Amino acid sequence: MINWTHATNLTIIIILYMTVLVNGFACKNPSLVQADDFYFDGLRMRGNTSNAVGSKVSLVTVEQVPGLNTLGISMARVDYEPGGLNPPHVHSRATELFTVLEGTIEVGFVTSNPENRFITKVLQKGDVFVFPFRLVHFQRNIGNTNALAISTLSSQNPGIVTIANAVFGSKPDISTDVLAKAFQTSNEVIENLQFKF
Ligand code: GLV
Ligand code: MN
Repeated sequence: MINWTHATNLTIIIILYMTVLVNGFACKNPSLVQADDFYFDGLRMRGNTSNAVGSKVSLVTVEQVPGLNTLGISMARVDYEPGGLNPPHVHSRATELFTVLEGTIEVGFVTSNPENRFITKVLQKGDVFVFPFRLVHFQRNIGNTNALAISTLSSQNPGIVTIANAVFGSKPDISTDVLAKAFQTSNEVIENLQFKF
């Protein structure tokens, strides 16, 4: 016969020793929480834009700030050199509210099938734009000076899927034939893209 008192005690002990994961991250014991769990100093400096696209997204998610866990919000500092592009991407778990702090930035997103409408706008300093949940979007600095923006995202762990990297840079590669057919182009063009990514 089961001794329910022992069974209940055992359950409590198991729960105490289990790590509770929320959206992939462990919840910290509240009595062990420190001010530094809610703090991040990594946005003081300009992000390094010396890369193929000329932009840098510096995220502040639950990964950088454990105190964000379960709170449904995160942010990013985005730096762009002139011509710099934050390339087409989606956030698997977030809508994004984008604010220009410096420069002139062209933004756009594409609505879902079958319309695939391209919604685009040129933003000036102080302007705000919304990229709805899971839609493909980008930003490009069209000014002659560096640009700076702040994004807020409606998840502590928004996820980023950069389209070109996912399609042409997957590990292992998606079969060249599949991509050639999907993009209605030759295997050679696809192999070139796969080589780049
Ligand atoms: C970040 O993901 C951004 O689009 O600004
Ligand atoms: Mn984004």
